Amino acid sequence: MKRVVFATIFSGLLSGLSPSMMTAATMSGQEIFNRNCSLCHSVAPPPKAAPPIIPLSNRYHLQFRTKIEGVNQIVAYLKAPRKAKAVDPQAITRFGLMPPLRLPDAELRVVAEWVWDQYNPNMGMGRGMGMGQGRGRAR
Ligand code: HEC
Repeated sequence: MKRVVFATIFSGLLSGLSPSMMTAATMSGQEIFNRNCSLCHSVAPPPKAAPPIIPLSNRYHLQFRTKIEGVNQIVAYLKAPRKAKAVDPQAITRFGLMPPLRLPDAELRVVAEWVWDQYNPNMGMGRGMGMGQGRGRAR
């Protein structure tokens, strides 16, 4: 199990520091997520070391009307996370600020589009994160 985690960290570092052999053209958003994000993010609750992707996607859909606006915002956040830009500032209090990701722009766009597409209105925006949209606890 440990070795799997190390391999994930290592491949994440490699793809961040050197042009990777695989390009965004050959990798799906899901693959980019598995390689670079899944160490900290689960897709659905419960959370790992960061908010799960589906509730985050729901927040983006609430704040941005079009996919292009939402995706631009996600890409900007991945490059330079800042509390003022966060759709979920409370998550920073709980998990700490996300480190900036050193991925090629093309990969950031593909994975940001994938995040946007994980939208699932049945799942809410805070379930499993200990937050209930100001309406009490989710659990
Ligand atoms: C080292 C751990 C880590 C990795 C790796 C990581 N994240 Fe995060 N991410 C976090 C944490 C912690 C937060 C919550 C605090 C924050 O928003 O900065 C977060 C927040 C986010 C948010 C919400 C930002 C907002 O507007 O509130 C998105 C979207 C996101 N991550 C996407 C990704 C994607 C996509 C990847 C991979 C390409 C990724 N993250 C990789 C830790 C990580």
